[in-house]
Amino acid sequence: MKALVLSGGKGTRLRPLTHTMAKQLVPVANQPILGYVMNHLREAGIKDTGVIVAPETQEEVRRYLEDGGKWGLNVSYIVQEQPLGLAHAVKTARDFLADDDFVMYLGDNLLGSGIRDAVGRFQESDADCMIFLKEVADPRAFGVAQLDESGNIVRLVEKPKEPPSNLALVGVYIFSPVIHKAIDTIKPSWRGELEITDAIQALIDSGRSVTGEILESWWLDTGKKDDFLAANTTVLDEYTRRRIEGEVDEQSTIEGRVHIEEGATVLRSTIRGPVVIGAGTRVENSFIGPFSSVGRGSVIKDSVIEHVVILDESEVVGVVRLEDSLIGRNARVRKSESLRGALRLMIGDHSKVEI
Ligand code: DAU
Repeated sequence: MKALVLSGGKGTRLRPLTHTMAKQLVPVANQPILGYVMNHLREAGIKDTGVIVAPETQEEVRRYLEDGGKWGLNVSYIVQEQPLGLAHAVKTARDFLADDDFVMYLGDNLLGSGIRDAVGRFQESDADCMIFLKEVADPRAFGVAQLDESGNIVRLVEKPKEPPSNLALVGVYIFSPVIHKAIDTIKPSWRGELEITDAIQALIDSGRSVTGEILESWWLDTGKKDDFLAANTTVLDEYTRRRIEGEVDEQSTIEGRVHIEEGATVLRSTIRGPVVIGAGTRVENSFIGPFSSVGRGSVIKDSVIEHVVILDESEVVGVVRLEDSLIGRNARVRKSESLRGALRLMIGDHSKVEI
């Protein structure tokens, strides 16, 4: 069993963060989403992993994953010149995949549980494809499955205006090599992409066995700001353990599940978990409330923050209260020195400020 991780495409939905970083590398609780994907592949006993990359973002993906050795995986990179669809990505990886079964894992999907048991069930079955489904409130942004009374999948539609059910396709698929023949039969969709959903429909139409499993754990689409904050909250809640590796002075109080990475300093502050403070970050005379993560090399000074994600090398200074916010890399948020209380902003493209 091999794995194909899709880390190409365009990161339009998480702008402005994805103006400067691949969306699969946006950190959730200080770990890039791709890191969680790699952990799941390792747990499933997979070794050979192909990673689809786009020409624009391949460098930083390679820098993070390297040769996969950190996870015990052998990573090969496959450049997809243009994001022409998930099935196109499989086509691009045809030589790497050869005639092996494989797991296809979308690099921006975050799942609460691993895939080891599912891989085992697929291997014991005679199915050509296994998909995962999750009930969602608004399925129009996803692939959607329609089941018959016995729970068999009869139809899959990509981003339907009128969804036949609430069951969205999760971004993890397991295939036998028969999928390559199915992909050869499909045409680009209305959005100009070769859809994997259409290829799976072709498998169903030709009488192949396609099984669907309802995903028991949570599944998060990290595409938009609020979803992204929700993902961060869920992951902090599930994974944060109390680990004080940095320095905390005697005037500070650390309550609950707080991870302070090595080289971080906390002075005259209170931190109430779950919270992660990245390596080399300095927290001074501040309160950091639950469900916040602060990346590496940042400064939080004279501020109160809660339910906030701050990425690397940023500064929040003199801010009375900051909530429900997402701050990118190398950003500065400072109290204005102006007596008139005037705002002075330099906001990047696609940013959003609520005052
Ligand atoms: O997240 C689950 C959904 O993922 C499914 O419900 C849909 O059926 C499936 O089509 C897919 O929909 P999205 O529109 O959300 O896919 P997106 O374009 O965001 O691409 C998913 C990942 O694959 C993302 O990490 C980028 C990567 N990708 C995408 C395309 C189109 C590639 O590597 N190459 C590509 O050509």
